[in-house]
Amino acid sequence: MTPGFTSAATRLGAMALLGLAGCTYYEVPRFDSDQVLGGVTVPAATLDRGAAAFMRSCRPCHGALGDGRGPQAVGMDPPPRDLRLGIVSFASVPAGSLWRDEDVVRIVRAGLAGTGMRAWKDIPDDDLSAIVQFLKTLSPRFRDERPGEPIASSPDPWAGRAADGAARGRVVYHGLARCQSCHPAYATPAEIQAFARDAGVVIEPRPNPGLPLDIRSDFGRALRSTDFRAGPLRAVRPASRTEDLYRSIAAGLGGTAMPTWKGALDEADLWALVHYVDALSRTGDAGPAR
Ligand code: HEC
Ligand code: HEC
Repeated sequence: MTPGFTSAATRLGAMALLGLAGCTYYEVPRFDSDQVLGGVTVPAATLDRGAAAFMRSCRPCHGALGDGRGPQAVGMDPPPRDLRLGIVSFASVPAGSLWRDEDVVRIVRAGLAGTGMRAWKDIPDDDLSAIVQFLKTLSPRFRDERPGEPIASSPDPWAGRAADGAARGRVVYHGLARCQSCHPAYATPAEIQAFARDAGVVIEPRPNPGLPLDIRSDFGRALRSTDFRAGPLRAVRPASRTEDLYRSIAAGLGGTAMPTWKGALDEADLWALVHYVDALSRTGDAGPAR
């Protein structure tokens, strides 16, 4: 455990918790000293407040230890994240870097659509920012590393021309970027070969190109690559669809095989992919029949 961390619950805390949690007994960690987390000193009082609020709002799924094994986690698919890994997939930082405070705040407030991680609106801002600090005590990464730099966005060159952007995105998706090596293909094999030829890349055809694949992750289980036509995208809010998609695609998803695309593609093509994925998920438009 981290220095300054005592596992003994106060008597008052333990009594209150026994009352609230029924027969599941757990202890609220107490912090007897300030801690340096991600290069910033966090007061012990903030961590105590965060621990208590975490136990109220997050423990039912993420568990008292943050290991993702809370009492409500049983059978949940996808399962609650093991927060001890220090990985937030839908963060604004390049995949693999340490998450930033604002990433967790955004995800808690907006939720991840279609999962057990709902939008938690009723947690006061002060409690949420204390929870964010407490989360850092669960992962040893915050002792040694600093948060990553957020991926900078750029102006959308397709603004007002979303359909043109989506059309270009369809070419980039199946050609230059080869997104269908993990995600489903939404174009015919002949189209894909033509897109690849134009982009000067080689595409290895795979069996069942229209189906998503299960791909290794750092979470101890395979993750199914998203079929953009099926169900809601997890980290896309109605009021900021394209910005949210830009973040997911440009930054990549930490802990998953989904890489960082910023820098690998030029900005016009990145934004074209945003419009293409947006169109697929809105209309289910799979392009010309296969
Ligand atoms: C009802 C169950 C439930 C509760 C309560 C809950 N979560 Fe989650 N949480 C989940 C599930 C399920 C996932 C995994 C979603 C996925 O894999 O797409 C998750 C994922 C996360 C992630 C990882 C997101 C990412 O992009 O990788 C964070 C961080 C997180 N939760 C924080 C919290 C915090 C903080 C609280 C309390 C304020 C909380 N959760 C409460 C179910 C819950
Ligand atoms: C090496 C495999 C791989 C490649 C290549 C890949 N992805 Fe992914 N992607 C995944 C996996 C796996 C997931 C699901 C992660 C999860 O479940 O947390 C995913 C998730 C996503 C999501 C998030 C969906 C949501 O629910 O919000 C978007 C957007 C996305 N990918 C877009 C793309 C685009 C566009 C490309 C091509 C530029 C691409 N991906 C290439 C593996 C890949």
